[in-house]
Amino acid sequence: MLTKRPRRLRANSIIRDMIRETHISMDDIIYPLFIVEGENIKREIGSMKGNYHFSIDRLEEEIKELVELGVKSVILFGIPNEKDCCGSEAYAENGIVQKAIRKIKEVSKEIYVVTDVCMCEYTSHGHCGILTEEGYVDNDKTLEYLSKIAVSHAEAGADMVAPSDMMDGRIGAMREALDKSGFVTVPIMAYSAKYASAFYGPFREAADSAPAFGDRKTYQMDPANILEGVREVELDIEEGADIVMVKPALAYLDVIRKVKDTYNIPIAAYNVSGEYSMIKLAVEQGLLNESAIMESLISIKRAGADIIITYFAKDLARMLKENK
Ligand code: PBG
Repeated sequence: MLTKRPRRLRANSIIRDMIRETHISMDDIIYPLFIVEGENIKREIGSMKGNYHFSIDRLEEEIKELVELGVKSVILFGIPNEKDCCGSEAYAENGIVQKAIRKIKEVSKEIYVVTDVCMCEYTSHGHCGILTEEGYVDNDKTLEYLSKIAVSHAEAGADMVAPSDMMDGRIGAMREALDKSGFVTVPIMAYSAKYASAFYGPFREAADSAPAFGDRKTYQMDPANILEGVREVELDIEEGADIVMVKPALAYLDVIRKVKDTYNIPIAAYNVSGEYSMIKLAVEQGLLNESAIMESLISIKRAGADIIITYFAKDLARMLKENK
C-alpha cells in the first residue's frame, strides 16, 4: 500500500495556498522610473515595452497610478540633456533626478523614493566614473563624485540611495559624505554583486548609457564568479551598506542564495531589463503564459531575496489583485 502521498496537499487551491512556502507582495517591490528633460513626454521605451520615459510634468499622473496600484517604492534613473566628462548634471541642484525627487515628494508622501547613484547616464563617454588619460576608470577620483551625487540626492529628498557603479570603497565614502552632511538616517542599498551582464541590453536604450568605447569589465564582475560576489558583499557590509544587492537576478539565483546563507542583512535582487523583456515579449507572442512572470519573481524570492527591483511591478500588482 502506498502511504506517502504528497499529492494529498495539492488537491485544491485552499490547501495549496496553506502550505505555500514563498510569498510575494507589493511590500517587496521597487519599480524603476526613467525621467527625461523636456515637456509633456510619456514615450514608450522601444526595448522595454510597457515602460516609459517621463518628463517631470508628466510624473504626477504616473505617481498617482502607482499609488493606486499599490506600488510603494520607485528607483529613479535620470537622462540629462547635457553630458560631459565628469557627469556634472548628476549632482546639479537642478539635475533631472533632483527635480524628479522634489516633484514626486510634492505629489505624494506615500511613495518611497530610491535613487540610482551612478555616472554612466551623465558622462559623455558612458562609463561609470572619471577616466584617466588612458581611458581607465579612476577609482578614487570617482569616489569623490559619487559621494557628491549621493548627497545631492539626499538634499533633494531621496529616502534611500543605491550606488550601482561598482567602484572599490564607494559605500564607505558615501556613508561618510552622507553623515557629514547630516543624512545619517538615509540608508544605502549597495549594488554589491553586480555582474558585467548582457542582460542589461534593453536598459542601455532606456538610459542612453552604453559605453562609447570598451566595456564595463574592469569594474563589473565576471559572471563566472560566486566567491568574488561574496567578497564584494562582505566589503559593502563592512563599509556600512544597509541592504546588499545581487544583479542580475534570474541568472544569478545561486549568488542570492549564497549571500542569504552567509550574511544576516536584507538582500535585494535586480530583475533587470533583459530578464523583463525576454518574458514580456514571449508572453506577448503567446509563447509563454503570463504566469511565467509570477513564477520568475517567486523564484527570486525563493532564492532568498527580500526585495525585488522589477519592471513587472505594475503587472504584479494587477496579478496579485486578480489572485493569479
Ligand atoms: C547603471 C545601471 C545599469 C543598470 C542599472 N544601473 C546599467 C549598467 O550597469 O550597464 C541596469 C539595469 C537593467 O538592465 O535593468 N550603472
